[in-house]
Amino acid sequence: MEVTIIGCGYVGLVTGVCLASIGHTVRGVEKDPRKLKSLQEGHCPIFEPGLQELMNEAVSNGSITFTDDVKKATKDTEIVFLCVGTPPKPDGTVDMTYLETAGKEVCDALAEMNNDLLVTIVVKSTVPAGTNRKLHNFLKSQTKAHFAVVSNPEFLKEGTAVQDCLNPDRIVIGGESVEAFRMMRRLYDPLVKREENFMTMNWESAELTKYAANSMLAARISFMNELTILCEHYGADIEDIRKGIGSDSRIGPAFLRAGCGYGGSCFPKDVAAMEHISRAAGHESLFVSAIQTVNKNQKKRFVQKIVEKLGRPIQGATIAVWGLAFKADTDDIRESASIDVIQYLLDAGAIVRAHDYKALENMKQIFKDKVEWTTDPVKAAAGADAIALCTDWPQYTTQPFRKIAATMNTPIIFDGRNCLNRDVMRENGFQYYPMGRPPVEQTLRLRSRA
Ligand SMILES: NC(=O)c1ccc[n+]([C@@H]2O[C@H](COP(=O)([O-])OP(=O)(O)OC[C@H]3O[C@@H](n4cnc5c(N)ncnc54)[C@H](O)[C@@H]3O)[C@@H](O)[C@H]2O)c1
Repeated sequence: MEVTIIGCGYVGLVTGVCLASIGHTVRGVEKDPRKLKSLQEGHCPIFEPGLQELMNEAVSNGSITFTDDVKKATKDTEIVFLCVGTPPKPDGTVDMTYLETAGKEVCDALAEMNNDLLVTIVVKSTVPAGTNRKLHNFLKSQTKAHFAVVSNPEFLKEGTAVQDCLNPDRIVIGGESVEAFRMMRRLYDPLVKREENFMTMNWESAELTKYAANSMLAARISFMNELTILCEHYGADIEDIRKGIGSDSRIGPAFLRAGCGYGGSCFPKDVAAMEHISRAAGHESLFVSAIQTVNKNQKKRFVQKIVEKLGRPIQGATIAVWGLAFKADTDDIRESASIDVIQYLLDAGAIVRAHDYKALENMKQIFKDKVEWTTDPVKAAAGADAIALCTDWPQYTTQPFRKIAATMNTPIIFDGRNCLNRDVMRENGFQYYPMGRPPVEQTLRLRSRA
């Protein structure tokens, strides 16, 4: 089918490349000149495992092209995806500017085409309940073109986005047009493994499904994070509890990992939006508000632990921050826990030396010269008073810890992702403080402080 993607960011590019890989002809529209240039030169402007390779194939066989010209990209198209950002406004409500602009541009282009065939406009961006209906009514008032709006919320996870897109647990389509539902079913045919996983519903149900999914996942994380307080008080191990409850088939094992708080472009924004859409419905959601409070507090608690256990004043101490991306396998730092952690450390007078495998350049845009930057985790730790691990990059688990301990001022690790092995830490002379797990305070080779 002929498909147009408006907005080639994380969601749009992954969607476009995956649709091209299953045989569709895709035209991507991107407004950011830097991203567009990179795309037109065949380079993926974001880091996402497997995406560059899949994009290479699609570019070389001509099944995906990129432009900033909406009219050119929508000519003869059957399906137009809107994949633009819906960032939070300072008051937590959703900023709909990009979506409205993109919708209007598509609408203007369709109006000029005078086409009798149905064009399906697909809203992939995460939007509050009622938005698709409003967009549908707005576009109907703007054009005589034959089109239908459907909501198709995206459930991919950064870091495994290509796999998620090609192997979706379910495909949710919200709308009113049976013809548009049929077009979407045809579009996704190679990805529908079981018929019941292709779900059609009304716009509002599809919109709320997305917010409900993210709020529930964030709630699971906040619940586990709150449990770390009890674990640390009573001497329990959150990892044992995770296994203990995750093996219950009613609960399941996913999204039960405790840490120094969730981040990313979706959970914080979508949970905040859930709170606002509840308020707009006249309901103050204590539950959704608690998910966010626990998350905020967890980042503070992580830094408080550093301050308490450092064994010297935080003022003037050098802290190596390992991990800036909001999770492993991405360069995305949006709402990353490390941003708050670094800010709290700087506010307390610490010197911060930061390392990441993919997100260093993105984070430099925020902290500029307030932080020392390094591409080597070992160098980041040399002479430092502690390491604060904020991202679960697997590479951190295989560092030369003996060498690192020898070069640090005091070998202490605060593991905000519970990804290091406490025995390895102890054997290599580290004091080790995970989240909600027993710490290592007496080490085998602890060096005396200078
Ligand atoms: N990132 C995720 O993991 C994820 C997962 C599920 C859902 N979502 C949702 O998907 C939507 C997009 O998120 P994202 O992370 O891909 O955002 P993004 O910021 O990475 O990408 C949006 C892109 O759209 C471009 N753009 C904006 N207006 C445009 C226009 N008029 N024409 C052409 N291009 C335009 C921007 O330049 C940008 O490249 C959001 O609503 C988000 O909540 C994101």
